[in-house]
Amino acid sequence: LAKIEIDIASIPEGKNVVFKWRGKPLFVRHRTQQEIEDVRNVDVGSLRHPQHDDERVVKPEWLVVIGSCTHLGCVPVANEGDFGGYFCPCHGSHYDASGRIRKGPAPENLAVPEYVFNGDQLVVG
Ligand code: FES
Repeated sequence: LAKIEIDIASIPEGKNVVFKWRGKPLFVRHRTQQEIEDVRNVDVGSLRHPQHDDERVVKPEWLVVIGSCTHLGCVPVANEGDFGGYFCPCHGSHYDASGRIRKGPAPENLAVPEYVFNGDQLVVG
């Protein structure tokens, strides 16, 4: 099935839940206010793959990304690494809580799929 529906009301703040979508891991992260502030205060010009957090989320509280490292495709670990977002243990890529690459070999930010919110449902695909 191409689309999945996720009940986001069951995901507490601060938690990253992994789903499976089109054969890949899908990360849905309920971001804290601190995480939101931190990722919004980053100087976009300093980023390897310059994207403002606004370009990567629909609602600030929710980060939805493909959980596949853009280096060689390992699955990063949530709430690890130097930037508080994700850490890929395969070769040491650090991502922030916007899924942006901040350190290590990965060339790009974690990919953002197409999605919409429908009340408490997140519809991806
Ligand atoms: Fe993630 Fe290499 S696959 S750092």
